[in-house]
Amino acid sequence: MDHASQPVTLAADPRGIAEAAALLDAGALVAVPTETVYGLAARADRDESVAAIYRAKGRPSFNPLIVHVASLAAAQDIALFDARALRLAEAFWPGALTMVLPLRDGAPVAAAVTAGLPTVALRCPAHPVIRALIEASGLALAAPSANRSGGVSPTSAGHVVASLGGRIDAVIDGGACEAGLESTIVALRSDGSWQVLRPGPIAADEIEAILGTAPVPVTAHEIEAPGQLASHYAPGKPVRLDVTTPEADEFHIGFGAVEGDVSLSPSGDLVEAASRLYALLHEGAAQGLPRIAIAPVPDQGIGAAINDRLRRAAA
Ligand code: TXA
Ligand code: MG
Repeated sequence: MDHASQPVTLAADPRGIAEAAALLDAGALVAVPTETVYGLAARADRDESVAAIYRAKGRPSFNPLIVHVASLAAAQDIALFDARALRLAEAFWPGALTMVLPLRDGAPVAAAVTAGLPTVALRCPAHPVIRALIEASGLALAAPSANRSGGVSPTSAGHVVASLGGRIDAVIDGGACEAGLESTIVALRSDGSWQVLRPGPIAADEIEAILGTAPVPVTAHEIEAPGQLASHYAPGKPVRLDVTTPEADEFHIGFGAVEGDVSLSPSGDLVEAASRLYALLHEGAAQGLPRIAIAPVPDQGIGAAINDRLRRAAA
């Protein structure tokens, strides 16, 4: 499709969703809100539409995509679910958990989605807009975060247009994303072990409570989720962490008692901080000041995922 012009902005209502579903059916790229971040969706079963995602993002072809479905049954058409996977689906779906599972033989998923891996990443999101879109289109949707590769993920339709305008067909404006951080990615291994490939809104403890065993740490030489590479989430200018007293040329993002020019959460609420993190990184990127400084954020609960993203933004 012709991406030279700005994307059409669609309302998050039945008419907008019907229009988006028709676009996806025809192979187009549509950005869509989820409860974590905005995704850049295309039908997962066609090589050309999946290739268009990689092109629009400037994403390396070895970095596989998450497939979004509206039900466990649809997920089971694509991947093999063992008892552990079923327990996690029951506990956390629909929601901000992505599971990496063995790809089913003959699954209706373009090879580019998995970048040739024998596994596939699956998520059943909770946000009503992407759920309605999956149902209206009857498609499984491949959707990475709707930003240029390596940049800060979008939590509003405005962020999407700023990053991908001129490269995609449409964006559904569903307002700000509630969680604000990408889903937790868990890989269930055939030897019975499991790993957290990307920390996120669902904490490792919560998953451990369901599975009954501790995760095996991911070592540097076995990184298979390139979202785990250091130079991700970069706002395009230097970022300094754990700053209580900023320099004069720094845009200061505060937290709790550290006030800053803006604050992740004046009351020190980590869930609020997660939901505001990317919007404030986008704001810092757009400021005249050449550098960004960020107050310390405690590492508890979703704070671990916030600090994971901050370390990458600063790398
Ligand atoms: O919250 C989210 O997960 C958002 C929304 C749109 O759903 N999506 C998202 O997608 O963050 P993306 O493409 O930005 O990140 C997906 C991550 C990448 O780091 C990729 O390497 C990893 O998932 N991944 C995908 N398939 C995989 C697989 N088979 N094995 C290991 N990692 C995989
Ligand atoms: Mg991403």
